[in-house]
Amino acid sequence: MRRLFVSLLGGACIRAVAAAGPTPGKAFDRFITIWLENMDYDKVNVDGSIADLKRQGISLTRYYAHTHPSQPNYLAAVGGDYFGLDHDYWVRIPENVATVADLLEDKDVTWAGYFEDMPSPGYMGNYSDGSTGNGGWDYVRKHNPFVSYDSITMNGQRLLNLDSFDAFQRAFAAKKVPQFVFMSPNMMNDGHNSSLEVATQWSHKFLQPLLAEHAFDERTLIALTYDESETYSEPNHIVTLLLGNAIPPALKGTQDDTFYTHYSMLSTVQANWGLHNLGRYDVGANVFQFVADKTGYAGNRDPENASSVNNSLSYPGLLNEDPSRRLPIPAPNTKLIGAGGLPILPAIEAAWSGTQKWQTPYDGSGRVCDGDSNPPVYNPPAGNPP
Ligand SMILES: *[C@@H]1O[C@H](CO)[C@@H](O)[C@H](O)[C@H]1NC(C)=O
Ligand SMILES: *[C@@H]1O[C@H](CO)[C@@H](O)[C@H](O)[C@H]1NC(C)=O
Ligand SMILES: *[C@@H]1O[C@H](CO)[C@@H](O)[C@H](O)[C@H]1NC(C)=O
Ligand SMILES: *[C@@H]1O[C@H](CO)[C@@H](O)[C@H](O)[C@H]1NC(C)=O
Repeated sequence: MRRLFVSLLGGACIRAVAAAGPTPGKAFDRFITIWLENMDYDKVNVDGSIADLKRQGISLTRYYAHTHPSQPNYLAAVGGDYFGLDHDYWVRIPENVATVADLLEDKDVTWAGYFEDMPSPGYMGNYSDGSTGNGGWDYVRKHNPFVSYDSITMNGQRLLNLDSFDAFQRAFAAKKVPQFVFMSPNMMNDGHNSSLEVATQWSHKFLQPLLAEHAFDERTLIALTYDESETYSEPNHIVTLLLGNAIPPALKGTQDDTFYTHYSMLSTVQANWGLHNLGRYDVGANVFQFVADKTGYAGNRDPENASSVNNSLSYPGLLNEDPSRRLPIPAPNTKLIGAGGLPILPAIEAAWSGTQKWQTPYDGSGRVCDGDSNPPVYNPPAGNPP
């Protein structure tokens, strides 16, 4: 009985929120990120399709992925760490590890993940041959970060937020695209099993309707990014473009030379909607500068050792393939204030209660950890650095 009562209440809340419309942000009302695969900055930067898109937005010239191969980069962007992961195989992250979904839902910001050729909503399999029909692994689990977090898959409502590109197109046509959207094209269109040009031409074509004048009624920010660079021996420098009708007209065709990583997606949405934080590497990650300017976030700075960032090898952690490099998932740092101006989400603090005294690698400094030369350093939890 009690469960039924609670779920009825939950249903009533959802209807009330839907009727109230989208939760407004300070710099944008919707964030869509689209992920391409494995290409070096210098090669993408001179591509014609990318050059044309750059004229319509802001080019982020110092954006770095975290490690290799793909999967840890995707996981990091929604969870604030990659927990030592150094492979693309099936992984499962315990339920007490929160993601951006927890932060968004807390402020009634709707979200979804759309994955091209995902065969059914909430699909949890490893891969699926879809539209290309040539055994080319059109949909792959490793490019869907949400489905590896138990905090998503153990919650039916959240699991159903993961769906195909067809579902995105239906939502777009109905002007019902959720407010936070993560999208991965299939293994052909993202460039993984094809070429640089296939991915950039696909992106250009896919984005045209989304960049058209009346595409969205609300201010929409679109971040087109690569997951990682192609050449493993070089620093993990990638192309990321900010597009969409949330870009201030005066900034179209400009570049932003602030230092960013995938964690900047987390800090940016936190700043925009005034969200709590995850208590992990999300805190201290630079906020996209035009959003920092609009939200009054003053914490952007180069991390220590910015000039020697490499980010080519995973540091130790629970998901490392090498048993001798496995460590427990670190406790979040409950003392940090994030870019949203708020502390850790209370539900996360409660889920980790009793661990507040554990040493933690998350210090809010924005320091970039790298498996080779800059492994995480564990210290007693403390507040944000000056
Ligand atoms: C998914 O891949 C993992 C290895 O990454 C394997 O152990 C598992 O059996 C696969 N699951 C299915 C349903 O194929
Ligand atoms: C796509 O890439 C995967 C992984 O590298 C590979 O196993 C598969 O054979 C490739 N498919 C095609 C059609 O190239
Ligand atoms: C970056 O790390 C990779 C992998 O350890 C290494 O091969 C490469 O030499 C490093 N590059 C620099 C500039 O340190
Ligand atoms: C920065 O790099 C230098 C030289 O590589 C190293 O000695 C130092 O420990 C690094 N500092 C941090 C905070 O990683």
